[in-house]
Amino acid sequence: MTLSIATAREQPGLAEKASGLAANVWPEYNKHGDVLNEFWARLESEFGDFQFVLYDDEDDSILAQGHSIPLSWDGTPGGLPNGIDGLVRGAFELREAGREPSTLSALAIEILPAHQGKGLSARMIDAMRSIAKANGLSNVIAPVRPSWKERYPLAAIERYARWTRADGLPFDPWIRTHIRLGGEILRPEPESLRITGTVAEWEEWTTMRFPESGTYVFPHGLAPLMIDRESDHGSYWEPNVWMLHPLA
Ligand SMILES: CC(C)(COP(=O)(O)OP(=O)(O)OC[C@H]1O[C@@H](n2cnc3c(N)ncnc32)[C@H](O)[C@@H]1OP(=O)(O)O)[C@@H](O)C(=O)NCCC(=O)NCCS
Repeated sequence: MTLSIATAREQPGLAEKASGLAANVWPEYNKHGDVLNEFWARLESEFGDFQFVLYDDEDDSILAQGHSIPLSWDGTPGGLPNGIDGLVRGAFELREAGREPSTLSALAIEILPAHQGKGLSARMIDAMRSIAKANGLSNVIAPVRPSWKERYPLAAIERYARWTRADGLPFDPWIRTHIRLGGEILRPEPESLRITGTVAEWEEWTTMRFPESGTYVFPHGLAPLMIDRESDHGSYWEPNVWMLHPLA
């Protein structure tokens, strides 16, 4: 197996092949972001240099897919976008205004299930650093989705992000991976990704029933879901943790 990275601009065929595969990586509810879904389909055509795949050179099989987007950031925690929703909206606006970005932000790293747990995420983060450098951007930031937060949906992200193990490293495996690769925490983002739908949609996405209005914990949810049966509305904010990978 010889692993290589290709961007969507370099190898559009591979990127197209990957987009179907990545659908298996996310819990169903996570594919229905209010803002994210407005823009996601345009990433490949408008930001093709920043979407990439990790593939095996020998047979072109795909192991992982990475999404990132360039933005303007002043280098301070206070100047970060309002979550992943603010990031994506702002990046498209910046491009439409013809203004120059300063920074690359990760949007997602998707390792196919058969290849998870083999350390490939380090390769993907490294690819983002290379892409940032190749495009003259000075930092890589990431709204990290902590993978074990789903086990603690009631814990505030501000506290969860700071939990550590006995060895002093972060408790969360995905935050820990970023720290090991030289990343640092900038700030938690309690309201990063907005997902809303009708009660029936939420019941389908989560394979649960929500008989009354109220607050519910649901499978793979990083935070609780609010259900209002009178207005037939379910709403959820996914928390993230902003992290920085300095390039200098
Ligand atoms: C999160 C993800 C990117 C990690 O990539 P990976 O290549 O599988 O992870 P690695 O092999 O580099 O391992 C990273 C850490 O996560 C842990 N880990 C990996 N797979 C795991 C799993 N299925 N369950 C729990 N922990 C896991 C590893 O033990 C490691 O931590 P440690 O070495 O300190 O113990 C990958 O699992 C994935 O694509 N998940 C689905 C999509 C997602 O959540 N993406 C991240 C948000 S954008």
